[in-house]
Amino acid sequence: MLGSTFPRNLTKLKTGSSRISTGWPWYNHTVRLGSWSKYNFSTHAGSHDDIKTSTSHFSPIPLQELALGYNPQIKGRPYLPGSTSGGFPEFLPGPQEGSSFPKAYEVKNSQQYDVKGWSLVCRQLIDEELAIHGAILIRNLPLSSMGDFQNFLQNLNFKFFEHGVTGYRTPLGGHVYTASDDPPEVTIEPHNECSYSPLFPKKIVMFCLREPNPSCGGETVLLKSQDLTASLDPKVIQKFEAKKIRYQAFLPNKDTGAGLQKSWQDRFWMDDPKEVQTILELNGWSYSWDKGKNLRYWYLNSPVIQHPITGEKIWFNQITSYNASYFRALPLYENTGDSMKDDQFPFHCYYGDGSDIEPEVLQHIREVMWSYAVGFWWRTFDVAVLDNQQVLHGRMGWTGDRKLVTSLIAE
Ligand SMILES: [Fe+2]
Repeated sequence: MLGSTFPRNLTKLKTGSSRISTGWPWYNHTVRLGSWSKYNFSTHAGSHDDIKTSTSHFSPIPLQELALGYNPQIKGRPYLPGSTSGGFPEFLPGPQEGSSFPKAYEVKNSQQYDVKGWSLVCRQLIDEELAIHGAILIRNLPLSSMGDFQNFLQNLNFKFFEHGVTGYRTPLGGHVYTASDDPPEVTIEPHNECSYSPLFPKKIVMFCLREPNPSCGGETVLLKSQDLTASLDPKVIQKFEAKKIRYQAFLPNKDTGAGLQKSWQDRFWMDDPKEVQTILELNGWSYSWDKGKNLRYWYLNSPVIQHPITGEKIWFNQITSYNASYFRALPLYENTGDSMKDDQFPFHCYYGDGSDIEPEVLQHIREVMWSYAVGFWWRTFDVAVLDNQQVLHGRMGWTGDRKLVTSLIAE
């Protein structure tokens, strides 16, 4: 992500071991919260059993309460690239029996603590279980407004990932953003957030301010990176690993209006190309200006990463969602036909040597991704936490009403 740096901060614990510090008060800190101090909710190590056994605060949500209640169409879905192929599944399924994906919990007694108290409990749950399950859904927390969520989020004590200039989100305050500003009818392909960039968030926290109307779409789509690594054609993975991926962005000059998207002046909030170049250089991106002073910048990145905890090789990229073929399917570009070249869309990617990614390879990746995708029925005031390294997320297009906000976590 441009303009953001979040170096890891290693903190020595009492035990002498090292842990990535996220501000979590592991020891030597007492929480004083007035009315709920009666719960002895201190954070002295060894003195707060109720936090250490965080799962005792939750019950599993029965599968039928997560089920979608209808069959969201995937095959042949409008604005979804590749979906007319026979390799796409017909429908998006709900969570599968016995899969624990997402791991879904309901708070047993929401009155037990206030918002800050629940932040401490949930932080413990996230630390204990997110790496195991990849995605955790938490229902029935005492959150009923954006302010409650901001308070909850702040007290999770994570280090925030500041969204940079390439994002399509609206900041809402308190490190919270709209989940996406893409038109609601668009189905967003699954992706690992900011995986085109050397800097990316490690976790994503979502909050549902208004659940989608029944059968109207808007599901968050989830799938596991390890399933893709295991199921994609190994030759496809090997080729990407050998050549890498060249992620390229295009920003037209506002004076020539060479595109439908934002100009580089509007995106960077500056008019001096030299200042823009400085930002790009500082962040390791290469760039070029064409005759019309339109800007292209690009970065070479690997298609896989090693998971920092499991050590597994994980498929981690945005080959399909950062590709012109995705944008060609959007309503905004519906009538452009062949008049726009691939490198005139906001984003496009190539193999690292600049050669085109074969359409059949893109199709293969899309078919495998959607074959593993699951959704769940958001309920108003649900919170979900995703491990951005292990889990891809997307979104089904929707009609009617639905409001989801999100926050990106650096570590
Ligand atoms: Fe995303």
